[in-house]
Amino acid sequence: MTVVGLGPMGSKMAETFLGAGFDVAVWNRTASKTEPLVARGARHAASAADGDLLVISQIGYQAMYDSLGEARLDGKVLVNLSSGTPEELRAAARWVAGRGGTLITAGIMVPPPGIGQPGAYSFYSGPKDVLDRHAATLESLGGITYVGADEGLAMMYYQSLLLIFWSSLTSQMHAMAMLRTAGVSPLEFLPFVRETFTQLGGDGVMGFATILAEEFAAGTYPGELNSLDMQLAGIGHVVHALREAGVESTVPDALRRLFERAAAEGRGHEGLGTVIESIRKP
Ligand SMILES: NC(=O)c1ccc[n+]([C@@H]2O[C@H](COP(=O)([O-])OP(=O)(O)OC[C@H]3O[C@@H](n4cnc5c(N)ncnc54)[C@H](OP(=O)(O)O)[C@@H]3O)[C@@H](O)[C@H]2O)c1
Repeated sequence: MTVVGLGPMGSKMAETFLGAGFDVAVWNRTASKTEPLVARGARHAASAADGDLLVISQIGYQAMYDSLGEARLDGKVLVNLSSGTPEELRAAARWVAGRGGTLITAGIMVPPPGIGQPGAYSFYSGPKDVLDRHAATLESLGGITYVGADEGLAMMYYQSLLLIFWSSLTSQMHAMAMLRTAGVSPLEFLPFVRETFTQLGGDGVMGFATILAEEFAAGTYPGELNSLDMQLAGIGHVVHALREAGVESTVPDALRRLFERAAAEGRGHEGLGTVIESIRKP
């Protein structure tokens, strides 16, 4: 296979394929980045389109267009693990098909040191029969999680998890910053953070990951015991507490405004899950 794009991710991918004993060619816009991999046994690809299986990892999809240029892709399989929007991925699949090739899209869920390590996995979308033909190769990078024929889906799953990752960790940052103003060290607070993350993903009364999913699936958001109205008052206090402490509060305040909108739309008596109905209709 040919690995196209040798940033931190692509370089580690090429290294991992080499370690697994595959015949690997490498291509990068800045050619000098191929050298460390050639020293480890990779071949120089003549162009970005040189190979039957192109494993692409670049900054975005425009880089793929720039790299392939006018090349024909007849019979080639391109597996692109770069980030983009779902629509960009769908358009890229049509572009590749127009040149005779097939695009498999992917979102890889680990940073470079995790590639090929236990627990690593990627979301893949596109034609499953084509992916299956290359599964034995791609498994070197980590587990294969196929999410559907729609080429946009791999990125939608990837971005959905990044959203949860960034927003929950940013909330932890606000919390740590506020507590620090009262002399509480982040490590003193850490056990409570860990417990909260565990409980949110668990099955108990605080198992809100499951509760939210089930409520959204059912389309009902019972809130008799902890209504959105009650939580709106609570988040108002949180925003004021952050301001009192003299720390940044734009993101918590945006949350407060979102809750407020859901309540203003007449659903304050429902549970927190009802906020998703406002998210769905901006
Ligand atoms: N790093 C992570 O932790 C991580 C985790 C999951 C997914 N990802 C995704 O993996 C992809 C690669 O990430 P990365 O961290 O390796 O580095 P990156 O900075 O996102 O991408 C660097 C690569 O893109 C190439 N490139 C940029 N513009 C180009 C263009 N116009 N034409 C041709 N090549 C171009 C660079 O070539 P030059 O060397 O010539 O500049 C280099 O090979 C990204 O889409 C990223 O979102 C990253």
